Amino acid sequence: MSRLGRSFASDNFAGAHPSVMSALAEANVDHARAYGDDEISLEVYARFEELFGAGTKSFFVFGGTGGNVAALSSLAGPGDCVVCSEWSHLHVDETAAPERAGLKLLVRPGVGGKLTPRDLQSAAHWLGSQHHAQPRIVSITQPTEVGTLYTIDEVKALCAMAHGLGMVVHMDGARVANATAALGGSDKLRSFTVDAGVDVLTFGGTKNGIVFGEVIVYFPQSGNPVVERAVRYAPWARKATTQLPSKGRFVAAQFRALLHNDLWVDLGARANGAARELYEAVADIEALGLTTPPAVNSLYPVVADAIADRLRETSFFWPWDPEQQRVRWMTSWDTTSADVATFAAAIRLCMG
Ligand SMILES: Cc1ncc(COP(=O)(O)O)c(C=O)c1O
Repeated sequence: MSRLGRSFASDNFAGAHPSVMSALAEANVDHARAYGDDEISLEVYARFEELFGAGTKSFFVFGGTGGNVAALSSLAGPGDCVVCSEWSHLHVDETAAPERAGLKLLVRPGVGGKLTPRDLQSAAHWLGSQHHAQPRIVSITQPTEVGTLYTIDEVKALCAMAHGLGMVVHMDGARVANATAALGGSDKLRSFTVDAGVDVLTFGGTKNGIVFGEVIVYFPQSGNPVVERAVRYAPWARKATTQLPSKGRFVAAQFRALLHNDLWVDLGARANGAARELYEAVADIEALGLTTPPAVNSLYPVVADAIADRLRETSFFWPWDPEQQRVRWMTSWDTTSADVATFAAAIRLCMG
């Protein structure tokens, strides 16, 4: 097996937390009902209701792309399209999976990876015309693909604008744990999701210490008929997009471990903390262009190609924006202070 040590490439490069691995082994006894009807799954659905409030409905899926596509498919009516940022994973990194599932994307520029109410207003220009796909769904990512965070007020303002225009709001929460940790911990989770007006959340696990799995979480308690309809369609939207895990207990067991004692928030906080440590260790190197501390677990410094290649001998990482020679350094739940120190020393050496 090739070993990369603890790289700064992606939180997907990290392994699974030991509690998650034990939870998988513990779930591996006897037979259990399949397709999410087993006892562990029922327990975790109840746990999500505790987290987000009575009436919350949750559905396990295999992955983040699939979770997004299944969630959006359940929301979309005929002719509907999805408003998203030009940086969204949906648009940039999902290999046209949404389009393959019949979901047209209406891409808006946003600012710093975030959609603004103005983006929704401009999209709304097409509402009501039978000749244009109808922008009835908004998808935002928290934290964004460029490492920024919507404030609670920004999510509220977007949701208010969306609802006022007859749109519903999906939040891609592949890194919802990092956002939750950054915004103040699990007590703040509702404030930037259900209480802010988000209608559907894809709650990530894979990037935060589990082997695989995400959860689509619906908030029909708002009484929005489109969300109520989406919950009714959800089982079919999920199966038709190939996201129904048959041995659901193994996804559920991982989430049970992650939700226990807020392990998920601790792991998100650790990843964020490691990124902050890295920033503090190298921010004085002006050429990196790191002007503000990371909001969550990624940094986007300027590193010339030749230097990046040398630095990759210490730790692998991905290019980000080749035109500006920006790269991405991302920390994970298991990044240690020693990893940061080793990498920071190599950065200093390579940057001269
Ligand atoms: C913001 C965001 N959403 C969704 C995903 C999709 O995850 P997956 O690779 O499991 O399909 C990713 C993965 O990088 C992501 O960064």
